[in-house]
Amino acid sequence: MTNIGIIGAGEIGSQIARAAIRAGYKVVVANSRGPETLRALVADLGPSARAATAADAGAAGEFVVIAVPLKLVNDMPVEELAGKIVLDTNNYMIWRDGHYPTIDSGQQTVLELRQQQLPASKVVQAFTHIQAPRITTAGSPAHDPRRLALPTSSNYPEAVELVTRLFDQFGFDTVDNSPLSESWRTAPGQPAWRALQHQTREELAANIERAQRIVLA
Ligand SMILES: NC(=O)c1ccc[n+]([C@@H]2O[C@H](COP(=O)([O-])OP(=O)(O)OC[C@H]3O[C@@H](n4cnc5c(N)ncnc54)[C@H](OP(=O)(O)O)[C@@H]3O)[C@@H](O)[C@H]2O)c1
Repeated sequence: MTNIGIIGAGEIGSQIARAAIRAGYKVVVANSRGPETLRALVADLGPSARAATAADAGAAGEFVVIAVPLKLVNDMPVEELAGKIVLDTNNYMIWRDGHYPTIDSGQQTVLELRQQQLPASKVVQAFTHIQAPRITTAGSPAHDPRRLALPTSSNYPEAVELVTRLFDQFGFDTVDNSPLSESWRTAPGQPAWRALQHQTREELAANIERAQRIVLA
């Protein structure tokens, strides 16, 4: 059974854990306050889940999900994540995160900043365009013509392949918007963001195409 490390056990991390277990994975979940604060979640998730520190979850996962808002100063375990595919759920919300000057100026995307913070990992965008509770409810079979599609982006094709497989197991289609320098096309405020309630693969691809770069400073 594949182990997934999930760093961040809030709204989105806990729902990814739920969907992953349902799809046959084992999960190791972590938050900032320590494994003992995750007892209730782990009990709810069942025997395929255990709690750990962020570093241990990073080390345990064959691939790792970061479901923690990005900080300007890296707070993720760089060494344990080295060499691994790291799925990043992060969306840049100025009201929550404050201003990141290099992103506001268009010098880099949020995902490029995460990649810079984790230089030996293969960062890939995942689960950014679905509300957390819908991860376990909005999936549908591959032949459904209205199947929900989610964007991904990475500098590593193997990371895009992994996310595409995982999304399919969870019931979603994928649109590849690589490399990370192009990921501004799905950022909050862009057409693909405004339509996140429901986009098919064709609709999401068209919305990505329609994006216009917003430079704040
Ligand atoms: N919520 C959604 O529907 C949704 C959907 C798509 C994308 N996203 C994006 O996903 C990210 C997470 O969102 P969320 O809504 O899940 O946030 P959340 O509910 O506030 O959860 C954040 C989690 O991150 C943990 N955390 C924070 N700093 C940490 C650190 N240094 N090491 C380990 N764990 C740490 C927190 O642990 P403690 O509680 O112990 O501090 C908490 O478990 C955001 O960027 C958000 O924009 C969210």
